[in-house]
Amino acid sequence: MYLRKAEFRRTVGAPAKLNLYLEVLGRRDDGYHELETLLVPLRLRDSLSLEPTPPTKAGRPGPIHVRVCSAFPLESVAEKQDLPPPGEKNLVFQALELLRRASGCSHGAHVELVKRVPLAAGLGGGSSDAAAALALANRAWGLHWDPQRLAVLAAEIGSDVPFFLARGPAVCRGRGERVEPVAGLLPLHFVIAKPRWGLQTNDVYRALDSQPPAEDGSHADRLAGLLRALRRGSWSELGRWMGNRLQGAAAALLPWVEQTQAAFAQLDFVGHQLTGSGTAYFGVCRHAQHARRLATILRTRHLGLVYVTRSC
Ligand code: C5P
Repeated sequence: MYLRKAEFRRTVGAPAKLNLYLEVLGRRDDGYHELETLLVPLRLRDSLSLEPTPPTKAGRPGPIHVRVCSAFPLESVAEKQDLPPPGEKNLVFQALELLRRASGCSHGAHVELVKRVPLAAGLGGGSSDAAAALALANRAWGLHWDPQRLAVLAAEIGSDVPFFLARGPAVCRGRGERVEPVAGLLPLHFVIAKPRWGLQTNDVYRALDSQPPAEDGSHADRLAGLLRALRRGSWSELGRWMGNRLQGAAAALLPWVEQTQAAFAQLDFVGHQLTGSGTAYFGVCRHAQHARRLATILRTRHLGLVYVTRSC
């Protein structure tokens, strides 16, 4: 049974993510790449509110409206960032349409999306928004789909969307949609730098395909080493096992990546790398004060927006 507008209006956080490790294991017949990646959700997050709307009096499906605004005051040039499109082009709209079609329900929704997570950054903002909308609509429309069923639908929207439904650190495989939650990881503090421009994920994968394959040891050992370091709190091990196979491909497309890597290398980060297919670049810090100190230095290097956040 669908919950009436007056009975259901929920706001949830839609966290960003970082890839602490990303290995590309090969190309698949469907054009995607087989991955093994360790993802952690962040306190840096968008907010999404959803109110259900009933079908129209003429029996047509209720409208789906998606309003998008920035969490930062528009006059704040330092924080000014692009916003995703409102309405039908938004991933939230597409996710709700898909859920409505797949479930046969005829309700609609008013969604308000408050953006903090930068776009085209490899931080998963759009995927996280879509996952939050699916989870809320599942309840608001009274569908009661179980998490597995919702995750299958989520994978149709984007490879990262099922990760965000799981709400915790996870190793993701396949094209990213096979999610294995991992527990007991040390909380981590991060500094993230993001340039004004973004990279398209498919361009980065295409650039990777044109590079010769790299041979640098067993990926299973690296991931196991990283998880061990994250459970024991071994900073030196952590920096050693981190890695992102897409970084070289992104750097071939965007000189900013190497400039930023060089700037991070001058500071005492535990480890640093690109997240996903970029363009955001992040460093791991030992504690919150360490992160704030390094962020203050990086803000003088004119690399773009600099964020301080932590895992959750
Ligand atoms: O699934 P998603 O929409 O995030 O993927 C965007 C693009 O990134 C895909 O069209 C594909 O070109 C590339 N991709 C890939 N292998 C993956 C994930 C994404 O090649 N595992």
